[in-house]
Amino acid sequence: MVVTNTAEVSALVESDYDRATELKAFDESKAGVKGLVDSGVTKVPRIFIRPPEDLDNPTDPNKTQLSIPVIDFKGFDTDPIQRKEIIDKVGDASEACGFFQVINHGIPDSIMEEMKNGVRRFYEQDNEVKKRLYTRDITRSLVYNSNFDLYHSSAANWRDTFYCFMAPNPLMPEELPEACRDVLTEYSKQVMKLGFSLFELLSEALSLNPNHLNEMDCAEGLAVVCHYYPACPQPELTLGTSKHSDNDFFTVLLQDHIGGLQVLHNNQWVDVHPVPGALVVNIGDLLQLISNDKFKSVEHRVLANNEGPRVSVACFFSTSFQPSSKLYGPIKELLSEDNPPLYRETTVKDFVDYLATDGIDSPLRHFRL
Ligand code: OGA
Ligand code: NI
Repeated sequence: MVVTNTAEVSALVESDYDRATELKAFDESKAGVKGLVDSGVTKVPRIFIRPPEDLDNPTDPNKTQLSIPVIDFKGFDTDPIQRKEIIDKVGDASEACGFFQVINHGIPDSIMEEMKNGVRRFYEQDNEVKKRLYTRDITRSLVYNSNFDLYHSSAANWRDTFYCFMAPNPLMPEELPEACRDVLTEYSKQVMKLGFSLFELLSEALSLNPNHLNEMDCAEGLAVVCHYYPACPQPELTLGTSKHSDNDFFTVLLQDHIGGLQVLHNNQWVDVHPVPGALVVNIGDLLQLISNDKFKSVEHRVLANNEGPRVSVACFFSTSFQPSSKLYGPIKELLSEDNPPLYRETTVKDFVDYLATDGIDSPLRHFRL
């Protein structure tokens, strides 16, 4: 926007001032978006409203709509023929669109159901109890708030979130919220196990030794992020989660039946339809970096919905919170004269901190040679 006269300048300053005040009031309520909905709002407050270009979905009828593959993992660890097929599918999906869904992954349905119920219980408990956990202090073992980037983003998302780190040092049960204490511990263990297997399959899909990515400590750290997207009175004005890519190795996402997750492919938003019993896997920026762009970290978002609440649990494989001098760059075995390194080496912490200081530019671009 080009500001041409003082009236516009003061209008800008005034709207900025209001926004800051409104953000602070919302934050200090410590009740999140759920609190707004409980108080009966029928209109989306303006701190959440996005410009139309953030919300539209350009659909080109000449382009065929990609569909996100659903891969059946049955037999991946027992049957060599099935395993080979699964590796091919995982590799193709990771190259083509960076997203796939997995069924028969080995995590029991009952644990996934209980995990989603536990997240709902957390958000739907007595607000006075929940409020005590609301914080912007990211050194806390459990961080619960609404919009981790509330004061930096151009518009707030219609979502509340809590997260904690469950590997390499899982939190003690008493540090976890009572509403989902046991299941969070059990679910994290199961995701770690699946993650280890996924890194083996992804290593093989890169024609590396099956242990390669695990030996690089890719499966060492896990952050468990539990989202709650309350029903929104005007879902066409805001988003549940704005466009972003994940800055980890990969993410294992459990979503409920509501839907709204979309992936950007050829400049079109493609739905990741909820599939009962499935987990969504998406490649993160760090895996794109070490695979030298073979695997793609793809932008995605979540629409606001008017049917919710929608809950999801995103498990991020990353060690960003465990300062280590270990360097990550394009894997040497993948490089050749025809495939020179595209990125310089970085520690996981520097990579993630770059994002923290500049939420707009992608760290991948920053570390590109
Ligand atoms: C994320 C994310 C999607 C969802 O947490 O990075 O993309 O469905 N979540 O909540
Ligand atoms: Ni994401």
